[in-house]
This record gives sequence, C-alpha cells and structure tokens, in this order.
Amino acid sequence: MADKKIVITIDGWSSCGKSTLAKQLAKRLQYTYIDSGAMYRAITLYFLRNNINWQDVASVKAALEDIDIDFRVNETTGLGEIYLNDENVEYLIRDLVVAEKVSEVAAIKQVRESAVAQQRKMGAAKGIVMDGRDIGTVVFPDAELKIFMTADNAVRVERRFKELYAKNPNITIEEVKNNLEMRDYIDSHREVSPLKQAEDAIVLDNTHITPDEQFKMALAWVKERTAA
Ligand code: CDP
Repeated sequence: MADKKIVITIDGWSSCGKSTLAKQLAKRLQYTYIDSGAMYRAITLYFLRNNINWQDVASVKAALEDIDIDFRVNETTGLGEIYLNDENVEYLIRDLVVAEKVSEVAAIKQVRESAVAQQRKMGAAKGIVMDGRDIGTVVFPDAELKIFMTADNAVRVERRFKELYAKNPNITIEEVKNNLEMRDYIDSHREVSPLKQAEDAIVLDNTHITPDEQFKMALAWVKERTAA
C-alpha cells in the first residue's frame, strides 16, 4: 500500500531556507509545494502597481476582489510558479521593492483571510508542503508534520544577499540586513497570526548543516509519520 499522504508545514524566520527544504521534500515525495509567502508578495505587488491605499479597509477589500492568484508548474523546472491575474510574477515578487512592503501588507486582516482561505483549499487533499509564517499555527493546525526553521542572523543575511545580488549587483548587504530585521520584527509582532513556533513543531536550526543534511533529517520525520 502506498504511504499515506500528509500535510507538511514549514514556518520560520525570513531567509532561513524554508523553501529549499520544502522543494526538496515536495520533489522526493511527489507532493505539491506551495510558497505562501509568494502569495503575500503577489498581493503586495498588485497594491504597489495599482496605488492601493492599504490603510483603508474598503480599498483593500475592493482590490482583493480583483486579485486572482494561482500556481502553475513550469514544465522545464517542474516547480510551481506564481501567477497574478494570469501574469507570471515569480521573478518580480522577489524584488526588494516588494520585500520592503510585504510585511505591512501581510499584517492586514482581510489580506490574511483571503490568502488563508485559498491555502486551506490547496491543502484539502493533503500531499502538500507549504512554507510560511503561520502555516502550522493557523492554516493547518492539524498538520501531521510541522517544522519550525531557524538559523543565525548573519547566515540568513549572507544567504539572501547572495540570492539578490545575483539578480541585482547594486544591492548592498545593509539593505538586505535591514529588510530581514524589519520583516522579522513586523511578522512576529503583528496582531493577526504572528510568526511563532507551533507547540508541536520540530525546530530545525540549519546554521551549521547543509541542505542535504537537513533534507535527510526531514525525510526521517516524514517516514515516521507516514509509515503504515
Ligand atoms: O523568503 P522569505 O522567508 O524571506 O519570505 P517569504 O516566505 O517570501 O514571505 C514574505 C513575507 O510574507 C513575510 O516576511 C511575511 O510578512 C509574509 N508572510 C506571512 O505573513 N505569512 C505567511 N504564511 C508567509 C509569508
């Protein structure tokens, strides 16, 4: 009998390798990977492009009505990419301009309600790995495997700097550091669904371990939970 399909949640601080682990697991287990942060980034991109005043609830609600988000598999990479109203924005949403505002937008109640409703639908059939901030606490509190990731600040800044620098050599390490610190602060202090470790989550600190090592550890946790 095939192993049973479970829900795997990966939450944690900015740039601590959540998506790397989530993609590894999804590929091996043939699960769907959903980057919930990409949804908040896409909504932020829409708000910025359309000059939405996100302090105003009515404007937020009206804008959310006009936003359609979905993930489509890129046949070359086999990975899901995010589409905002039929436009592939997978690359654009990683820009620092979006990162500067995303935590503010993600703290808005109506934005979260809309994103969480869609995330729950995507996980209803199980066989899903989702990463974010509130996935194990709010989106899927009954998930079979919850991982909470962390890594030393300096390591996280260095990792994200390398990623962003490859796309934009004008970026400075200070900008990246400030952005991560600001987002971590807002994400963990907001009123609605703040970033925090679920009581039943396993903590994975990957400061000193390689992607391959963390993958092996996580696979062992999956096996424990899927064995018949
Ligand atoms: O890749 P990184 O960890 O830096 O961030 P991300 O996963 O792309 O998420 C971007 C931002 O979206 C976070 O800083 C949060 O403000 C927000 N977010 C959230 O509020 N809840 C989630 N489940 C996922 C992301």
